Amino acid sequence: MQQSSLFLNRNEFGDATNVGNLLSPAEAKAILDEWVKNDRLKIHMKQVAHLMKNYALDQGLNDLEVQKWYLAGLLHDADWDQWPEQHCRKIIEELENRAIDPEVIRAIASHGPRYFGVKPVSLMDKMLYAFDELSGFVHAYSLMRPEGYSGMEVKGVKKRLKDKTFAAQVSREDIQDASERAGIPVDELIFFVITHQAGADLS
Ligand SMILES: [Fe+2]
Ligand SMILES: [Fe+2]
Repeated sequence: MQQSSLFLNRNEFGDATNVGNLLSPAEAKAILDEWVKNDRLKIHMKQVAHLMKNYALDQGLNDLEVQKWYLAGLLHDADWDQWPEQHCRKIIEELENRAIDPEVIRAIASHGPRYFGVKPVSLMDKMLYAFDELSGFVHAYSLMRPEGYSGMEVKGVKKRLKDKTFAAQVSREDIQDASERAGIPVDELIFFVITHQAGADLS
C-alpha cells in the first residue's frame, strides 16, 4: 500500500488528563457552522453522530460515553470541506488545543485507516469507521427511493452495494474492512443504519 499523504504518522492523540472534557453542544455547533459550508457534509456528520449516539445507547453506555460517541461522529469530517488536504489533522489539532477527551480525538483519527494510517482500537473507533461510509451510502439510496427510508430493506441496500456505478465514491472495500474490524456482519450494520438514520436531527 502506498503511503497516503493524509497519514498522521502518530498513534497518540490528546492527553490522558483530559478524559471527560467535551465540547458543549453550542461549541460543537460553532465549529460546524464556521468550518463546514457544505450542507450535504453537515447532514452526513449529523447522521453519523446520530448513529454513534444510538449505538452507544444500545450498548448501555453511560451519559458521558454517549456524548463522546456523538461528538466523535459529529466532528469526524469537520475539516473536510475547507481543508481536504489536511483532513483529519486539522480537527485533531483543534480538539487537542481545546484539551478535549483523547478517546474522542483518537476515534476521529482512526476513521479511515487506509488514509490516516491509524488503527481503530476501541469500540468507539471501530463503530465510527463502520458507520462512516455506510451512512452516506444508505442516505444516497434513500434519496433515490420515492418513499425515502420507509420500507427500506437490507437486501435493497446490498443490491446497490453490488452495483459499482451507484454512489461510486463510496468505498465498498472500506465497508467490508470496517465490518471485519468491528466483528459485525455488514448486514447487521446496514440494518442498524436503516432503522436509525431517518430519526437523525438535521437542524
Ligand atoms: Fe473523513
Ligand atoms: Fe465521514
